[in-house]
Amino acid sequence: MADIVEILMIEHLAMKRMKEKQVTGISNEEFSSFHGFLMNVHVEVEEKIVFPELIEPQWEDHKQYAEKIEKIKADHKLINTLATNLKKWYDEGNIKTYNDRIPLYFRLLVDHNTLEEREVFPRWKDLNKFDESGKLAKECMNIIETYGEGDYLKRISLSEAAFRYLFRDLI
Ligand SMILES: [Fe+2]
Ligand SMILES: [Fe+2]
Repeated sequence: MADIVEILMIEHLAMKRMKEKQVTGISNEEFSSFHGFLMNVHVEVEEKIVFPELIEPQWEDHKQYAEKIEKIKADHKLINTLATNLKKWYDEGNIKTYNDRIPLYFRLLVDHNTLEEREVFPRWKDLNKFDESGKLAKECMNIIETYGEGDYLKRISLSEAAFRYLFRDLI
């Protein structure tokens, strides 16, 4: 099994590609489907599995590190609120506002991901001992299975063979 944070980083790359794609136009259906993946898989793995483990040890700078994680979680809420508004504008036929604000959504998201990679994720490598049994990896797999393996592969443009390699020992 690959490291969970490495998988989150692969998902970040897929999000960067979506950011580039929105320049040429992204349908509301595609946007909604993307946001569903973001909240139900990616953010779910971060908030339910990765962050609780990261915050468990008493780091030397524990207070500051915990604050960083809280800020990251607040970003998730902000991005979700923006997505709710985007859907509302689209449904109301306010397409101009919708089109104008889509780039903001992707800019916030990609900046947020960069912050996670720089300020939060690096400490995961010190925690490998916590997942000797593969318990966390199994929880991650359960989240993906609940969402749907096929949709997950499509969403991040991952081949089935690559998926089987990353989640080896579990499938
Ligand atoms: Fe995040
Ligand atoms: Fe992330």
